[in-house]
Amino acid sequence: MSNRTFTMIKPDAVKNGHIGDILAMINKAGFTIKAMKMTKLSQERAGQFYEVHKERPFYGEICDFMSSGHIIAAILEKDNAVEDFRTLIGATNPAEAAEGTIRKMYATSLGENAVHGSDSDENAEIEGNFFFSHLEKF
Ligand code: RTP
Ligand code: MG
Repeated sequence: MSNRTFTMIKPDAVKNGHIGDILAMINKAGFTIKAMKMTKLSQERAGQFYEVHKERPFYGEICDFMSSGHIIAAILEKDNAVEDFRTLIGATNPAEAAEGTIRKMYATSLGENAVHGSDSDENAEIEGNFFFSHLEKF
């Protein structure tokens, strides 16, 4: 089991001014930030990141949305990081997210759901490497 996961604060939450509140929730839940940057994905880079969803009907929508504004990308550390972070962010659809989760508090819709969290140790590693060079991770 890895002790790292990868997250993005998505364009809706950045635009709505929730970066500080979301980072505070992440820290309060016991995660340490190991790498972090603000950046903006091009349509093409967003498409690469979400390539696993290429055949899904919402692929075009998610690429448009994820390239629509600035994001925060970060690598987080904690015991059982991947699973615990998925619990902290809540269900993909904010209407189904548990009370006190990040998506319940800050997401606006299924498509614009405030945060990303890796779904496996393997993808956490791949996604962290998508945004951070060797020199930016420690
Ligand atoms: P994420 O990867 O962003 O952390 O979200 P997730 O694991 O909870 O959900 P996933 O199945 O990986 O889907 C990626 C993103 O695609 C959008 N989506 N739209 N219209 C739809 O039916 C639909 N389903 C998923 C969501 O924004 C989701 O976060
Ligand atoms: Mg996912």
